[in-house]
Amino acid sequence: MLKIGIINGPNLNHLGKRDKNAYGSLTLEEINQKIKHAAKKENMELLFIQSNSEGEIIDSIQKLSSHANGIVINPGAYTHYSYAIADALRDCPVPVIEVHLSNIFSREDFRQKSVTAQACNGQIVGLGYHSYILALHGLQTMIEKE
Ligand code: DQA
Repeated sequence: MLKIGIINGPNLNHLGKRDKNAYGSLTLEEINQKIKHAAKKENMELLFIQSNSEGEIIDSIQKLSSHANGIVINPGAYTHYSYAIADALRDCPVPVIEVHLSNIFSREDFRQKSVTAQACNGQIVGLGYHSYILALHGLQTMIEKE
């Protein structure tokens, strides 16, 4: 059974009430239920982490490096400037896919750059919660191909 860590960064705990035009109306808990449902069909175990703090996200990446088979990360606004999270991802020996609910390339200029995706195996953006589910399938393909 594959173990996958799902890391959500700052402000994603406020989904459902923050900027619904960009992120939709589902709460993080509702999104997690949908991801869990998809993972169950694939016989995957998920470990969910949400943190508003950069250091905690780095600690989670380091911990998951040794007990998960892959990671899906939505670093929130840290995507655009956290070299510390990017370095933690670079050191991570398991595959990582970055996801975004919104299409960051169609939004403000500052969102159009991801310093963290440069350290990931791939990136999926703009598909709402489906971004996470597609990332799970992507990881599964990558891991089983190894
Ligand atoms: C986001 C996009 C980021 O620019 C933003 O800061 C977020 C959410 C997304 O999932 O679309 O917090 O990561």
